[in-house]
Amino acid sequence: MVRAMSFLVKVRQLAEPVTVALGQTILEAALAAGHDYPCGCQSGNCGACKSALLAGEVEMTPYSDYALTAEEKDSGLILACRSLPLGNAEIAWLEGDEIAAHPFRHLDCKVIGLDPMTHDIMRLRLEITAGGPYAFSAGQYAAVRFGDLPVRDYSMANQPDDPVLEFHIRCMAGGTVSPFVRNELAPGDPVRVEGPRGISFLREQHAGPILALAGGSGLAPIKSIVERALALERRQPIHCYFGVRDERDLYLEDHFKGLAARHGNLTFTPVLSEPEGATARRTGFLADAVAADFASLDGAKVYLAGPPVMVETCVAAVQRLGAARGDCHADAFYTEQDKAKLVTA
Ligand code: FES
Repeated sequence: MVRAMSFLVKVRQLAEPVTVALGQTILEAALAAGHDYPCGCQSGNCGACKSALLAGEVEMTPYSDYALTAEEKDSGLILACRSLPLGNAEIAWLEGDEIAAHPFRHLDCKVIGLDPMTHDIMRLRLEITAGGPYAFSAGQYAAVRFGDLPVRDYSMANQPDDPVLEFHIRCMAGGTVSPFVRNELAPGDPVRVEGPRGISFLREQHAGPILALAGGSGLAPIKSIVERALALERRQPIHCYFGVRDERDLYLEDHFKGLAARHGNLTFTPVLSEPEGATARRTGFLADAVAADFASLDGAKVYLAGPPVMVETCVAAVQRLGAARGDCHADAFYTEQDKAKLVTA
């Protein structure tokens, strides 16, 4: 087997991935390629290069606690100047409003609800039995572990002040964890939750329009974001789109329709990409629906959650409509199959 001599690191703010040679830090490679990566000391002491690790793994050489606390590291942050990638990876440097300062918690929880929402999505509801209180920003996610099974990341669908945690889990064919959730997990079973993580959370100070785009079980963080924005009563327009393949993949439609009936500033639009029969609903890809509906998204915040290809096409579409890249917020969620497809340099 030939060992890779370099890895590709996608940086959310840069158009092209950075090629990082073995033994080189991500910051060194980015600066050498002429990118304006935020940094200061370049020696792990100031924290100016603090970034979110969105996918992949890195090894960090020693740094000071001042630059990166243990809690920040647990929550998925890294220092680009100390990070050696262990494979292809994806990161984002932190922008002004991207630090959600919540304590990182290790929670013991108990299953109190398990409901099928579609043919392949389960809603899991958990009561926190120890390790709380658990604070997070709407849109963030947590690492969830069932018994000895591998950890999986799932977004909270509930409100930050709700004592019951809610996750939407899609059953992946051939998967290890989601079939267990669907077929074996039962009320009363213990579950470990560690979080919060993620930088795609509602910017609560933003008063402009919100575009919230969900694909499949990506509805979970979008639900949390939309409901939190409504609870803040800012009255800015909130346009929520839910992209799925066909009728049978839609869920919580009545819930969102009810919210839209009660809040004049919210619209909810399901879009079917591959309907089998005739339908009166919107059809096509989410990115095309958004492109058709808006003349400009200048000044809007865009929150996206769903399959990587949906997120990428929608980010490109909203940028063409004037949304700033820094106003597009998405945490990359890769399935085990998606991770396997990450290109090797
Ligand atoms: S540049 Fe100072 S900690 Fe990385």
